[in-house]
Amino acid sequence: MPDGHQTTSHEIERYAGLFARRTRQMRSSAMRDLMAITARPEVISLAGGLPDTSTFPPDTFAAITARIARESCASALQYGPTEGFEATKHCIAEVMAAEGMHIDVDDVIVTTGGQQVIDLVTKTLVDPGDVVICEAPTYPGAVPVFSSYEADVVQIEMDADGMRIDLLEETLGRLEREERRPKFIYTVPTFQNPAGVTLSAPRRQRLVEIARERELLVLEDNPYGLLRYEGDPLPPLRALDGGVYVLYLGTFSKILSPGIRLGWVAAPAPVLTKINLGKQAADLCTSSLTQKLVEGYFAEGRWRGYVQDLCTIYRRRRDAMLDALAEFFPPQAEWTQPGGGLFIWATLPDFIDTEDLLAKAIQQENVAFVPGSAAYADGRGGSSMRLNFSAVSENDIVEGIRRIGKVIDAQISLYGTISGRAAGAPAQAPEVEPADVPTNVVPLPQRPSDTKRGARGS
Ligand SMILES: Cc1ncc(COP(=O)(O)O)c(C=O)c1O
Repeated sequence: MPDGHQTTSHEIERYAGLFARRTRQMRSSAMRDLMAITARPEVISLAGGLPDTSTFPPDTFAAITARIARESCASALQYGPTEGFEATKHCIAEVMAAEGMHIDVDDVIVTTGGQQVIDLVTKTLVDPGDVVICEAPTYPGAVPVFSSYEADVVQIEMDADGMRIDLLEETLGRLEREERRPKFIYTVPTFQNPAGVTLSAPRRQRLVEIARERELLVLEDNPYGLLRYEGDPLPPLRALDGGVYVLYLGTFSKILSPGIRLGWVAAPAPVLTKINLGKQAADLCTSSLTQKLVEGYFAEGRWRGYVQDLCTIYRRRRDAMLDALAEFFPPQAEWTQPGGGLFIWATLPDFIDTEDLLAKAIQQENVAFVPGSAAYADGRGGSSMRLNFSAVSENDIVEGIRRIGKVIDAQISLYGTISGRAAGAPAQAPEVEPADVPTNVVPLPQRPSDTKRGARGS
């Protein structure tokens, strides 16, 4: 539309009548919306899920691209097979082996990022009104996918050990009585986005048993498994189940680069065939050029060293954020203690609306985070926030948390003034009916000041 052109109501109506019904359910991704604002240099953004790509050596990038130009220019510039190049799949098999899984490359399709896997799996399995089960809170980028396919999203509470499997079983029982069979359970079991928590070993075991007993599919989304800062790795769900009911989503985004847009799905053959058809319709094939890039990079054999370097950097940043939270957030706040990944999930007193808080934080303090409601299909999570610690320096993390703490303090004082409570008194929202109080926020571990550092859960 030309600059300065005002959209009239007549014009809006002209197009509105043409939109498909599913567009009414479509939601914008909170992170995408925030990206424009957070790109401003004066803003400290703890909002994105961005890995720190400035750590990747430019010389390595230059050498790999020069080699592609020399040795495989024509095929790098050409369309490729929908399922991806065999050589790329061998790199994927290497990453999966590092996570404790052994796969046949024929069980894999290379995708345009892990995000496309969520889209293709939902497209393949979900009719409007079908139930998809996921964690509460869930990956904010999955919410717009589920809503665009008109799924009925049922979210299961978590605690410090990940999804509450007892509640999952209760929910599955209820759905069965209602004769509603969920199409799949979507989970990020390791260093979850957004909560940072990890599904415990016994819960993993039980989840795959449930999938087998009830013949339910599980989509295991695992971008963060190799970004571990302490403790021993737990087996992926796919390793426990052998790839019968568990569909596995992996990505190069967090261990190499999100800009190359390369992910993958490993699934049983009949599901993979349908996913392949869905991908043909969506984009024909994944970028040949970036697949060649991964191939060249893996040939150098240094990818694991790079992931270790990332872990060292992110561990320090996580610690800086945890220390800053203990220093600058009010006593009423709680937050998770991630043993890996990129995120901390903080929950504030009920009377604080983090969407409102975000507007103030950006406007008054030039700092951003993701409001908790983005991680719920039904708008809950309103007093929580997701904080990212991978994308900015330790100094900026501390300064960012200090600024957010300042805005929270102002909000608490304001509430104290209006409600007549002392500003530091334990937070409650007496005017909210119990039924309206969000019940699905993660019951969080103790504040770090009350917890031994070494006890950080993973
Ligand atoms: C849990 C989870 N799944 C999927 C994605 C999508 O990643 P990509 O499409 O970059 O592979 C992300 C990105 O942040 C994520 O956190």
